[in-house]
Amino acid sequence: MKMNAVILHAMGGIDNFRLDNVDIPRPQKGEVRIRVKAAAFNPVDVKIRQGAYGNCLPVILGADCSGFIDEIGAEVNNFAIGDEVYAMPFGQGSNGSYAQYVCVPYQFVAKKPKNLSFEEAACVPLAAMTAYRAASTLQSLRKDRPIFIAGAAGGVGGFAVQLARYFHNDLIYTLAGSEASSEFLSEKLNINKANIIIYKGLTTEKLREKLIEVNHGNLFLATFDLVGKEMKTLCLELTDYSGHVISIVPEDPKSDLSLWAKGNLYFQRNLSTHSIFVGAESYSGKSETWQIYCEQLTHIMHLLESGTIKVPYYQVLGGLTVDTVQNAHRLLETGRVKGKLVMSVD
Ligand SMILES: NC(=O)c1ccc[n+]([C@@H]2O[C@H](COP(=O)([O-])OP(=O)(O)OC[C@H]3O[C@@H](n4cnc5c(N)ncnc54)[C@H](OP(=O)(O)O)[C@@H]3O)[C@@H](O)[C@H]2O)c1
Repeated sequence: MKMNAVILHAMGGIDNFRLDNVDIPRPQKGEVRIRVKAAAFNPVDVKIRQGAYGNCLPVILGADCSGFIDEIGAEVNNFAIGDEVYAMPFGQGSNGSYAQYVCVPYQFVAKKPKNLSFEEAACVPLAAMTAYRAASTLQSLRKDRPIFIAGAAGGVGGFAVQLARYFHNDLIYTLAGSEASSEFLSEKLNINKANIIIYKGLTTEKLREKLIEVNHGNLFLATFDLVGKEMKTLCLELTDYSGHVISIVPEDPKSDLSLWAKGNLYFQRNLSTHSIFVGAESYSGKSETWQIYCEQLTHIMHLLESGTIKVPYYQVLGGLTVDTVQNAHRLLETGRVKGKLVMSVD
């Protein structure tokens, strides 16, 4: 039996994708096979394509999907054929989700939120679990202090804002690259306009001053870096004594943004730092650690079904074609995408 898949045949540009007809994978022990109905795109797809994680060709990219279970491997007891699910095929399984079928260990799969379409559901796993890991670090912190999020308009940001509200409070300050982006943040994510600073044209120093000013002269209890580089520096400089700096973006260890740069603010201010990698257990943990994905996806499913959080914004770019994939990669490379990009897979 064959399936269609958009396959990357060489590292580098978007011209290296091709639509191929290949064997449908069979689920191994502990895996389920998902008939993919929708797949979402992430910046990591672009980074892999560009060779940031070495050469692994040919490869079917795609770290998010929704669909239904159509075959079950040995020793899987918690799913039945036909179950509607969403999953994160990232680091484990047969292939990525730019394909009609994918096999994944059952721990990376959970029931699809009933109130979401397949396209909406596909937007959730990687971005929402990253945001969940970041926002849940706020749980034990005092609730009366605001937090700052750099990168709130993106795929992770939309979930991070909502999950920060769920785990902490509604006092969120953020940045926007333009007036349109600021509108997006206030309309789709309900962020108070007065708490959004337009960063375009401003130095990091000026931004720091403005953010402290709008926060009534105070630093922030916690800051989220969802962007990297200068924004990581800004987050560090904006974090108050005994505060928390949470980052999802690793830096080049040789850059002057390394942990110990900036006059050792981490020590001077007694800061805690949380580095988030949603693929941590998948890439380097033993299979006993993978259950965390199912637990987080299931909790997120309940939050979505109860309306506590929603998929803030997404665009369906098309079907499973090379054009759709190239378009998604082009858009992600601009760094200006709002919410999530997704494709339907029929
Ligand atoms: N560690 C992990 O496990 C993990 C997981 C997921 C993603 N990531 C990484 O995290 C980053 C964000 O992922 P994503 O999916 O949210 O990306 P994304 O959807 O491409 O984010 C794009 C958004 O970022 C905002 N942005 C860009 N530059 C900004 C700046 N200087 N200041 C403030 N906002 C800025 C843009 O808003 P404006 O137009 O308003 O600037 C845009 O809406 C990527 O580098 C990704 O690879 C890491």
